[in-house]
Amino acid sequence: MKTQVLKITGTLQTEDIERAARVLRAGGLCALPTETVYGLAGNALDKHTVDKIFAVKGRPSDNPLIVHIASISDLEALVREIPQTAQAVFQRFWPGPLTVVLPKSGRVPENISGGLDTVAVRMPGNDIMRAVIRVCGFPLAAPSANLSGSPSPTRAEHVLADLDGRIDMIVDGGPCDCGLESTVLSLCGDRPRILRPGAVTHEQLLAVLPDTILDEGTTAKLQKGARPVSPGMKYRHYAPKTRLILVHERSKAFVDFVNALGGDGIYALCFDEDIENLTVPYISLGPAGDCTAHARNLYDALRSLDDKRARTAYTRAPETRGMGLALYNRLIHAAAFEVVDS
Ligand code: TXA
Ligand code: MG
Repeated sequence: MKTQVLKITGTLQTEDIERAARVLRAGGLCALPTETVYGLAGNALDKHTVDKIFAVKGRPSDNPLIVHIASISDLEALVREIPQTAQAVFQRFWPGPLTVVLPKSGRVPENISGGLDTVAVRMPGNDIMRAVIRVCGFPLAAPSANLSGSPSPTRAEHVLADLDGRIDMIVDGGPCDCGLESTVLSLCGDRPRILRPGAVTHEQLLAVLPDTILDEGTTAKLQKGARPVSPGMKYRHYAPKTRLILVHERSKAFVDFVNALGGDGIYALCFDEDIENLTVPYISLGPAGDCTAHARNLYDALRSLDDKRARTAYTRAPETRGMGLALYNRLIHAAAFEVVDS
């Protein structure tokens, strides 16, 4: 299969949106930009298309997909009920990087939610993605547009590296703003529960839903045999081929530690303030404390480590406040929970 690349520059053209919609109406797969990461989109209401998404990514069938909508009215067909708490959340955070898990209706194909009786829904902040959904007239199932297990794509080149020749089209809308996947919030239990931290932070959610809790699986390894609330938690994720090890240290101690280890294939994944004293090769995630920059750069940095054939990358652990928690969550999974204190 030849993968068409459709580059969007300047104002959004109806013709471009129509081209992507034609692929999707025919049951094809199209990678689309969102404000978080690129999504691998297909018709969410067609179970054969949904099967294709799982197959192309090599994704385990019990790891459910997020359904993307363009307006609140698209939601009614997908869920059995919309709790009162949800309304406030939609008003405050949609469109945007927040996915909400609700009890699903009979319209949602079985395979989207991997056998669960809930469905994850999100209204993306990206204009291109919402315009395509609107023109298609159906919601889009869209996991991140990478091969299962590898870092999520934040640029069209990342999508091509993983999926060229396996999907019909990529719409190249430039680099993604956030760079990390959406916050996933379940409203199906007795309290609102964050299943995956993202750009909508725990602190921001507490301001709207004061009893929101953070699921333990977001920062700690699941116990053997434990059943995760979100199936995604049990798979190795966001991981480069390079071995990643998290180091809980401030700049000087981190730099001294990595310099002392320095050797063949050793890299530092660091912040700008570390650079001038490092004697090993490095990739910086941006200025220390600038979580927005770190989030935007993380997946590109993980892919670069692989391109450079880095053997092991020692990584400075970020603070776990605000957006830092999302970064920490992705890093701790990418590092398969390998952490050292220097
Ligand atoms: O930002 C994003 O959310 C991106 C863009 C493309 O929208 N999408 C994305 O999809 O990250 P994916 O498939 O890579 O991750 C979806 C996550 C998985 O961890 C999955 O287990 C969880 O959402 N999830 C989906 N449906 C769920 C459900 N019904 N209950 C609990 N967790 C669910
Ligand atoms: Mg993913």
